[in-house]
Amino acid sequence: MSVPVDHETVISATDALWWRQAVVYQIYPRSFADSNADGIGDFAGIVSRAPYLAALGIDAVWLNPFYPSDLADGGYDVIDHRDVDARIGTLADFDALVEVLHAHGIRLLIDIVPNHTSDHHRWFREALDAPPGSSARARYLFRDGTGTDGAQPPTDWRSLFGGSTWQQVPDGQWYLHTFAVEQPDLNWANDEVRDDFLTTLRFWADRGVDGFRVDAAHMLAKDLSDPLPSQDELDLMPRDGNHPLLDRDELQQIYAEWRAVFNAYDPPRTAVAEAAVHASRVPRYASPQTLGQSFFFDLQLADYDPASFHRIIDECLRVAVTSGSSVTWVLNNHDTIRHTSRYGTPFPGYGPDGEPVRKHGGDWLMAGGDPVLLDAARGSRRARAATMLLLALPGSAYLYQGEELGLHEVAELPDAVRQDPSFLRNRAVEVGRDGCRVPLPWTRTGPSFGFGAGGAHLPQPLWFGHYAVEAQQDDPSSTLALYRRALSLRRTLQGAESLQWLPTGRDDVLSFSRPGGWRVVSNFGARPCPLPDGEVLLTSNPLSDHLPGETTVWLRQ
Ligand code: NOJ
Ligand code: CA
Repeated sequence: MSVPVDHETVISATDALWWRQAVVYQIYPRSFADSNADGIGDFAGIVSRAPYLAALGIDAVWLNPFYPSDLADGGYDVIDHRDVDARIGTLADFDALVEVLHAHGIRLLIDIVPNHTSDHHRWFREALDAPPGSSARARYLFRDGTGTDGAQPPTDWRSLFGGSTWQQVPDGQWYLHTFAVEQPDLNWANDEVRDDFLTTLRFWADRGVDGFRVDAAHMLAKDLSDPLPSQDELDLMPRDGNHPLLDRDELQQIYAEWRAVFNAYDPPRTAVAEAAVHASRVPRYASPQTLGQSFFFDLQLADYDPASFHRIIDECLRVAVTSGSSVTWVLNNHDTIRHTSRYGTPFPGYGPDGEPVRKHGGDWLMAGGDPVLLDAARGSRRARAATMLLLALPGSAYLYQGEELGLHEVAELPDAVRQDPSFLRNRAVEVGRDGCRVPLPWTRTGPSFGFGAGGAHLPQPLWFGHYAVEAQQDDPSSTLALYRRALSLRRTLQGAESLQWLPTGRDDVLSFSRPGGWRVVSNFGARPCPLPDGEVLLTSNPLSDHLPGETTVWLRQ
């Protein structure tokens, strides 16, 4: 296929370090663009929007899972790791997408889901058909139950999506599922499992994929030797590499094997770990000998608060240096309430674990953007300021589709349309993550606001029209214009990966400089503050002769 190139950036085939300061745009394929009016986004839809992605100025796209799936968990229940869900396209469509993105100067990362498969994966069907103790069962984590006739689960452990983490099969054994019951956990002590994933990585790398986002990267290795602890005991165990389920030391050996695969390509394929681990253990995932990068979710978990931002930025930069990596900054993804809505609702405070306390009985990050409490204008203003701060930091920035439009969380989804297992298995507690996964609005009006010519698999609210690409693309004050301008400037300003904090005389104002005369001032407070000298390059909100509250400015000095 020949593709017109309308983007100045040409991918360098030899740039092995492209990922260090890349802007990566996350696409949730079912909700980005629908080419055939079935209400589900697809590869052809993404291809049709490649010029939009190029004009946005991103370096790479990360695709959430697009594999055959029953959608028990938004595609993270994978039936075949080396194929494409027919609703999203074919392998040929995938190849076309790689070619089109590359022709536009955009690299492609895909999601690898190694902790579990779908319960409709061939292996799991074989495991169910095979007897206890068989090699087919040894690919998963099956155990006998406890109590009379083994009728009770092996432990009282809770699944992350609610309910028991064990599910009984007809012959009486139980299998472990950290997430939904449709997502049985794989046994990573099994060589066949390990080898098969190496084959999967090569399969996609051979098709031109530039890198991988590794789902639940800290969970693969498990020690289920007796006696198994109770959930209460588990919760109290240190995460020091010997916890039975989380962040075990032997993961490093698994990822060293993956690294050997990545380094067999030129340039080496990259990887970023989704690993919820303490900062001191991030280097195990982010070192050049293992995956190379790990998400830092700390800013995403933080309040819009200058002291928190300052502390987190310092800590993340320090850990990244120790890792031989760069920081991956994140404010939004498909698992959390959008930052426009988070920053517009009262922050619930931090718990003893340093994470935001749970809200309404549910997880604050999944609380759905309480429509009664939401101050949307304030949330948007703060979100724009925080994004400009994030985009000025050394390291790589991950953006989630729709944040460039300033979309808010869709809090008003009726229960009947919600799809997320974290809601379905937990009805009274969690609202779930559907509110940030509603298909994008491209046009002001029309069926599904231009997402496709038909409906949308999650209903879009009427207010989506105001946030449509069409409504923003010619408006220089729009959030879309701000993101485009920021990304284009960032390309020209980005230099060495260092940052120098500058005094501001105020606790609620942060300022730093980057090499080459790039100065950033972020006023988190309500009161305006003086503007330093220098040429104003970009501002998140209009300036007066001062820097207004909740505003970030970039200057050249
Ligand atoms: C993390 C993914 O981001 C999330 O969406 C998914 O539900 C779990 N891992 C399980 O795969
Ligand atoms: Ca479609």
